[in-house]
Amino acid sequence: RKSATGQSHAKIIFFGEHSVVYGQPAICLPISKIKTIVSIKGADTGQHVASKYFTGALSEMPDSQTGIQLLINTILVELHQEKTPFTLQVTSEIPAERGMGSSAATAIAIVRAFFHFFHQSLSHAELLRLADVSEQYIHGNPSGLDAATVSSKTPIWFVKGRRPQAIPIKQNAFLVIVDTGIMGQTGLAVQHVKSKLAGDHHAEEDIEMLGKIAKQARSCLANGDSQKLGFLMNDSQTILSKLGVSHPILDQFATLALKNGALGAKLTGGGMGGCLITLTSSKPSAKQIATILEQHGAIHTWIEPLATGYHKG
Ligand code: PMV
Repeated sequence: RKSATGQSHAKIIFFGEHSVVYGQPAICLPISKIKTIVSIKGADTGQHVASKYFTGALSEMPDSQTGIQLLINTILVELHQEKTPFTLQVTSEIPAERGMGSSAATAIAIVRAFFHFFHQSLSHAELLRLADVSEQYIHGNPSGLDAATVSSKTPIWFVKGRRPQAIPIKQNAFLVIVDTGIMGQTGLAVQHVKSKLAGDHHAEEDIEMLGKIAKQARSCLANGDSQKLGFLMNDSQTILSKLGVSHPILDQFATLALKNGALGAKLTGGGMGGCLITLTSSKPSAKQIATILEQHGAIHTWIEPLATGYHKG
């Protein structure tokens, strides 16, 4: 019996969350070791879906899964396979609602799996267009950064509405990704920044400054200046906190990481919860900081090399 799989991975925003909504650039990193895998197997009858959120008939998916249902139906219509029986299984290591791209990763892996299953070729533009069907439904009007990064092998420079650019990294450092265990609230945080911009002219300068920081960070990544990169992370965190999208736990974790030798620390993604990222100069230092933050309540940490040749494939 025929079967096929499709894969994707997690992502983090290194620099530029929130300001990216207003046309400023962002730097995003694929986290290839945290995976989402979708497998599709041929069946005798019916169209079935299985994931940690729902197991049952495609036509009976609950409201919380409508985005995914819409995506699968769109793919089947476009490939003229509306009646083909199958069982689709989603297995994901990416925690939901933490700014790590879990919904986009599921969408990308589903599209890839169906195109393999039906032996169809798939361009990158087509992959992003289809993934956007569920992302639009789930997130309203997302910048597209998530889908671009969870389908990319290289770090990317992302400006809304433009084609993402791969960027080189020449570092010898480590990032620790720290899950606070608190759900991020991207929608609320985006609204919060929007109303700040309407009422406070300093907020506009803050957004511009976040864009400037992203540009400086790009140079630091290219020339290996981890020290300055750390300062830029701290500056970003100060501004994001001022904009009201941090969380007391994120601030507390950032302070703790810096006290224990981190070069920099900031929230990643929408904020108001979710994850913190912190830069360290060595793996032992990364491990030490991860341990300390876990002792203070972090529910998960991942250590990711930020090194020359990073995520070449
Ligand atoms: O929480 P995440 O990782 O989905 O990131 C949201 C990033 C924002 O800039 C806050 C919003 C957006 O659509 O880009």
